[in-house]
Amino acid sequence: MSAQPTDMRAIMAASPVMPVIVIERIEDAVPLARALVAGGIRVLEVTMRTAVALDAVRAIRAAVPEAITGMGTIVKPADVDAAMDAGAAFGVSPGSPDALLAHILERAFPFLPGTMTPTDVMRVLGFGFDAMKLFPAAQAGGLGMLKALSGPLPQARFCPTGGVDIKNAAEFLALSNVGCVGGSWLAPANLIAAKDWGAIERLAREAAGLRQP
Ligand code: 3PG
Repeated sequence: MSAQPTDMRAIMAASPVMPVIVIERIEDAVPLARALVAGGIRVLEVTMRTAVALDAVRAIRAAVPEAITGMGTIVKPADVDAAMDAGAAFGVSPGSPDALLAHILERAFPFLPGTMTPTDVMRVLGFGFDAMKLFPAAQAGGLGMLKALSGPLPQARFCPTGGVDIKNAAEFLALSNVGCVGGSWLAPANLIAAKDWGAIERLAREAAGLRQP
């Protein structure tokens, strides 16, 4: 197995874009991951929104070990345990309730807690996390919000997600407090349903080019 970073900032640095992935059919998990990795996108967020999500992480970990496979849409402490049992390398949540943050720290799981306001950011920093998701990024104020947060709270590093796509990703990545961006555009439901792995690889290659290695 290739080396897997265990620090959340190092995971963010491993890919400019973290694809937000929804797997409906388990047989799509490995070919999708292979297409993204072939295009140069190594960090994957498999959302815990479907019955096969945990099995998808297990399958990708086994068949595509060069991927850094995380679990998204973690909303409660038990989800952290399930994601870790499945072998997820990191986790992502849409928000940051105290009980969830405390459990993540107890389990020492690399994590991006969701934030949307300065108070969220301050609470998450207070728990000891210095990397976090800004969600939903567009509705939270997008580029302007991130620039405003960089003044008083420069120690927070963000993965803005929600309304980010290939057209605006470069502007987000140029900000001093953005480590990577998240988005569903690299794994669209229609291309997965059509098993068009070539098209997904091309989307990944375009996204990987957003930041030169
Ligand atoms: C999600 O969790 O589905 C993300 O917010 C994806 O947002 P996007 O579809 O705007 O990329």
